[in-house]
Parts: sequence; C-alpha cells; structure tokens
Amino acid sequence: MSRAPVSTLTVRQARQLGGEITVPGDKSLSHRAILFSALADGQSVIDGFLPGEDCICTMRALQAMGCTIETESKTRLIVHGTGGKLRAPLEPLDCGNSGTAMRLLAGILAGQPFKSRLIGDASLSGRPMKRIVDPLRKMGAKIGGQGEKHTAPLDIEGGPLTGIDYTLPVASAQLKSCLLLAGLFAQGTTSITEKTPSRDHTERLLAYFHAPTTIDLKPDGRGKTVRVRGGTRLHGHDFQVPGDFSSAAFWIAAAAALPGADLTIANLGLNGTRTGLLSVLLRMGAHIHESISDSTCEPFGTVRVYGRKLKGAKISGAEIANVIDELPIIAVAGAVAEGDTEIRDAQELRVKETDRIAAMATNLRAFGVEVTEHDDGMTIHGGAKLTGARVGSFGDHRIAMACAILGLFSKSETTIEETGCIATSYPTFQDDLQKVASFQETGLAAMLSGGH
Ligand code: S3P
Repeated sequence: MSRAPVSTLTVRQARQLGGEITVPGDKSLSHRAILFSALADGQSVIDGFLPGEDCICTMRALQAMGCTIETESKTRLIVHGTGGKLRAPLEPLDCGNSGTAMRLLAGILAGQPFKSRLIGDASLSGRPMKRIVDPLRKMGAKIGGQGEKHTAPLDIEGGPLTGIDYTLPVASAQLKSCLLLAGLFAQGTTSITEKTPSRDHTERLLAYFHAPTTIDLKPDGRGKTVRVRGGTRLHGHDFQVPGDFSSAAFWIAAAAALPGADLTIANLGLNGTRTGLLSVLLRMGAHIHESISDSTCEPFGTVRVYGRKLKGAKISGAEIANVIDELPIIAVAGAVAEGDTEIRDAQELRVKETDRIAAMATNLRAFGVEVTEHDDGMTIHGGAKLTGARVGSFGDHRIAMACAILGLFSKSETTIEETGCIATSYPTFQDDLQKVASFQETGLAAMLSGGH
C-alpha cells in the first residue's frame, strides 16, 4: 500500500486547551467490524469506520479474497458477507504497519482451504509472530514465518483445524482474537484462557454477530476463559464504531495536565478494558468526568477533562494491558507532572510498532526530561523545564502524537519528523490539534504547521 509522503509536524507551546470534539472511529473495532461482517451471512452496514491505513489494509485484504465492500463514504461501509467462504488471493496480502490486521487475518486464513501469504512494512516484518504460529500449529495449521521469531512474511496453507485449550503466555488481545477466529473454523471447541485481562472487543463482537460464546470469569475477577464452537455461523449486523479512546487519550492527557483546560470528547468508546488511562490520570490527581450513555455491544459516552497540575504515579502489573497503547502519552503526562512516574511490567512495549521504551526515552531526553530506562519500562523524573526539540517518530504513530503533545508544554518550538505514520490510526490528528489548542501568540489562527 502507498505510504504517506515523509512529512514533519511543528508544534508550539499551547496557551490553553478546550472545547468539544469527537475523534475518528476505534481502530480495534474497525478491524473487527469489517472482519466479522465479511465472515458473516448477509449484509452489514458499518458506520464510523476508521479510514486509517491500518484498517484500510484489512479492508483491501478482504476485498482481495472476494468480499464485496461498498464504500458509501470513507467512514460508512456496506459489507456483503461471504458466509465464511473466502477466495484464494492472487497476490500476497499487505498488512502494512498493522499487527492487528496480520494476526487476526492469520487466524482466519489458517482455516481457509487455500494458500496465502501475509506481508507487512519493515516495522511489522520485525514483530514477533511466533506467538500466533505456535498455537495455530497446535490446532493443525500449516503456517510459518521467517527465522526463529517467525516474522513476516507469513506463509499459510489453510486446511482443517482442531479446537485447542490454550492459556495465553502473554497478555495480547491480538493473539486471543487470532485463536478465537481460527476456532470458528476448527472441529470442536476452542478454549482460550487469559490470566491478565486484555481488550475484549472480539468476545463482544462474537456475541453481537450471534456466535454462541461462553465466558468463564476467574473468581478473583482477573482473567477468564473464552470458548467458541467450530462451525459457528456469524450473522451480519449493522455496527456503529465509537470514537477511538486511544486517539482521544492524547487530548485527555494533555487537557488533564494543563491547568485551566476544559475539554469534552463525545461519542467516545468507553470499554472498561481500554480506559485504564482515566484511572492512571485520576491517581495523578486529574479531574475527569466520564459518562456512559450506551452499552449495546460496546459502551460509549462522553469524557470531560478539567486541567490541573498533576503528580507522578506508578503503573504496573495487570493494569499495563489496559493502557498498553496509552503508555507513550502516559510518559508525556509523567514528564509534565511533579515527581516520578514509574512504568513497569511493560516489556510488550518493546515489540510494538517500534521499541516504545527506547523511543520515548530518547525523545523525552531531547526535551530535557530525565528518564531512567528499565528492561520492562521507564521512570520519568517529572517537573523539569521543557525545551522544544526536533525528534524523530521512529515510524510509530503513537510516538509521533505523544511527542507533539509534549511540544504543547514546551517553551520553544518542537518539530516531529516523519509524521506520515500518524495516518495509520489518526489521519485527522493535526486538524483536531488545531481545534482543541489555542496558542501563545494571539491573532495567528494556528501555531502549528505541517510540511513535506
Ligand atoms: C490491539 C491489541 C493491542 C494493541 C493494538 C491493537 C487489538 O495489541 O496494542 O494497538 O486490536 O487487538 P496486543 O494485543 O498485541 O497487545
């Protein structure tokens, strides 16, 4: 797929943050909504689809396998379900930068009666796929990648699968979802246990698309076992994708940390397996009001944030999976807060779109922040005077956006290089930045600029 041209984003110190915005559709839910609709019987209309590059990869892969998808607009799709019978793709399926696309598609393709190959960009081709290859092979799949880590390209010779009973060795919703999707095409029952809760969109959407799914919660409320029956048919269902909490996280954290800010984000996905950032910010002393207005399938509602000076906090253990995509912006909040913010048990950050521990440590230091890096996280020594910096994105959308937010708190100008990656999850980030922030020099509409 074509990548956005190399571009930069320049940000200056914000005077204030405020107003009411909505953010684009949830990335995890957009992938799943289109995948489930494509596998279902009948037609599904998806509204609020995220037209980011990651989700477009999933859409193109499904189209290349014979699924008809009408794009009424960038965010409204009509998906004609295939009843679970996809067609052999003529070319490798390009997952671009998206781990979700690759891991979830692999689960589906393992059970289809044809050969396929999944490819990705340089970042995705370095990410571990052994975590899906091992259990899929236990189900009887013929799948393999490159080298010991089974990195992409992944070659799959789809065929009959048998259900397994599997405990996830790592808290990963992508791995859980890959195996549950494979389970739909397997003989017998597939039973997946997670010891640490990860985002539960797949479980919710399975039920929403009428797949009988059972969930046994562990008595202590930590973790659960999810079971799906092979041969289950999904029924098409219209789906409204709420705003992506992980995109809103940049504004929530920024507003929470800027005294005087008053920002409202409406139509926002508020699934409790995703909103751990709110609890972290509350521990840091933030003032946040969350109201859930609807809970059909996925809860959504409004978050209003009032800015204050924050203090450092510790984030570790089971909470990490809930805030996994928010850790870069939590590190930024820690830099702006008084005292230390310690992030631990977050080894998974090292195998995201980039090594997010190393990337954030490098960039925070460029702004004048003192950081101690750990194998499994970092300690950010907050409260330093921030100077604007010129930093790289490491090709990672969340690093680019987190550093743009830090620029709003820095005395001099900040430039983020290679910001084309932002389009993977938040193509309108820069427009929203202009909407929520007002800048020191009045009279100038927007004190930020993007260039190529
Ligand atoms: C995702 C799960 C998370 C997250 C990613 C999206 C998903 O990855 O980091 O952005 O949609 O299932 P892991 O489950 O691998 O931690």
